[in-house]
Amino acid sequence: MQLLLNHTSRLLYWFWYIVLYLGLLYLFVRSLKMLRHNTTAKTPAKVPQGNRGLPFIGETIHFMAAINSNKGFYDFVKVRRLKYGNCFKTNIFGQTHVFISSTKAAKKILSNETENFTKRYIKSIAKLVGDQSLLCASHEQHKLIRSHLTTLFTTASLSSMVKQFDELTVNNLSTWHQRSNVTILHEVLKITLKAICKMLMNLEGEEELETLHKDVGLIYEAMLAFPSILPWTRFYKGLQARKRIMRLLDKIIEKRRKSKEKFDDFLAHLLSKDGEESEQENATQLTNQEIKDNILTMIIAGQDTTASAITWMIKYLDENPDALNQLRAEQQALQQKVSGKAHLTLEDLNCMPYASKVIKESLRMASIVPWFPRMALHDCEIEGFTIKKGWTINVDAKSIHFDSMIFHDPNKFIPSRFDDDSKPYSFLAFGMGGRTCLGLHLARAMMLVFVHRLTTSYRWMVIDSDESIEKWTLFSRLKSGCPIRVTCLEEERKFPNASTT
Ligand code: HEM
Repeated sequence: MQLLLNHTSRLLYWFWYIVLYLGLLYLFVRSLKMLRHNTTAKTPAKVPQGNRGLPFIGETIHFMAAINSNKGFYDFVKVRRLKYGNCFKTNIFGQTHVFISSTKAAKKILSNETENFTKRYIKSIAKLVGDQSLLCASHEQHKLIRSHLTTLFTTASLSSMVKQFDELTVNNLSTWHQRSNVTILHEVLKITLKAICKMLMNLEGEEELETLHKDVGLIYEAMLAFPSILPWTRFYKGLQARKRIMRLLDKIIEKRRKSKEKFDDFLAHLLSKDGEESEQENATQLTNQEIKDNILTMIIAGQDTTASAITWMIKYLDENPDALNQLRAEQQALQQKVSGKAHLTLEDLNCMPYASKVIKESLRMASIVPWFPRMALHDCEIEGFTIKKGWTINVDAKSIHFDSMIFHDPNKFIPSRFDDDSKPYSFLAFGMGGRTCLGLHLARAMMLVFVHRLTTSYRWMVIDSDESIEKWTLFSRLKSGCPIRVTCLEEERKFPNASTT
């Protein structure tokens, strides 16, 4: 018995000895692991802060309220950025949206699109511009359509566009001195629509242009509206307007196919492969629907953006007399050189260095397209923040444009800040990467022509300085449209003592 007891206590002794030994060994290995982890692993990625709002609807109501306010829909982003910082999360229309504002993040998202991100607009926009539109197309389809459209923006087409836009501008401006006041936005919307429609499909008929103008306006107003198909809603009216435009485009395309006449516009080039038999050609050819959706896309992407940009520029110049004087001096000197010519040329536009900076500065401050939405195709990490597959990540360009670490005194209009090249991914007025604005040279050319003709023909004074932003618009535009009163410079020359404004 004694022997059995001795044996058991020895076993227990060894048992506890091994348990203690293994316990110590475990603690030792664990602390070693923790030590290694602390020295090599980076801080784990954080989920962006933010309020996801109510179940299902998230912060959609707040977003809609911002769209419907005088501060404009960017205010929704501004308020949250101030609260949460450079990166925040929200939920709009049932989708998680992250907004991020740094040049590093912009580079990562916009330059790396094919691998990790794809463009994504809210569904209502896709319904209005069409799912074959460049704005909504899948990667492969986007590549094909963009390659077709890029070839249309040649130097030759840009040159002819400068001539047409110049003629239209001179015609429009020639009546201004007879009016008590002129609303810049309204006039420039007319000029840009005429110029773009002529360039795209040689459409010039006053009646057709007027109907198109109204219909494009209805689509534009519907883009941020709640996608309801009840007949009195904005969205429904936008869809009806789209149908009318599609019918007009069908008619134009049909007529073209039957006609023997030669045209030199975008539509003629897009249709030029018609009838080619090879299977390979057919595979890369655009379908009728692709042509129609993309003509509509270019009208929407080109008309309002350019007209809004010009309107903001006139307002900023009115508020900054030194910049305006310097600009006018440059343009009047150029006028002396071009006075014998019937119209401005592309080469003339290259002789406007100060005007080019005025345009850049106006675009920075106005930030017409304030953010660029992309969908994450995989889980990823940006600037230390976790981004989940399927979330929409928005590059907040406006915030970057107003970052005082990038642009000193960002709230001041200082065109000379563009004397030197800006930091990469800091000037995003036309986007960057594979989705950069297709019409950027055209937009810049239209703005230069307009500013030349205006500064060499008139002095102006803004008669309503209301800064409110128009409600329900996708691109930032002034509600007042910037009404001005003009004085003809010719009259000033004739009557040097006449009062100037
Ligand atoms: C001042 C005027 C303009 C501004 C500020 C502007 C701005 C922009 C921006 C920021 C983007 C990229 C959006 C993104 O990455 O999500 C874009 C894309 C685009 N723009 Fe412009 N734009 C202007 C004028 C024009 C004009 C005149 C046209 C053509 C007539 C045009 C056609 C397009 C097209 C087709 C795209 C889509 C490109 C793609 O997805 O591949 N834009 N624009």
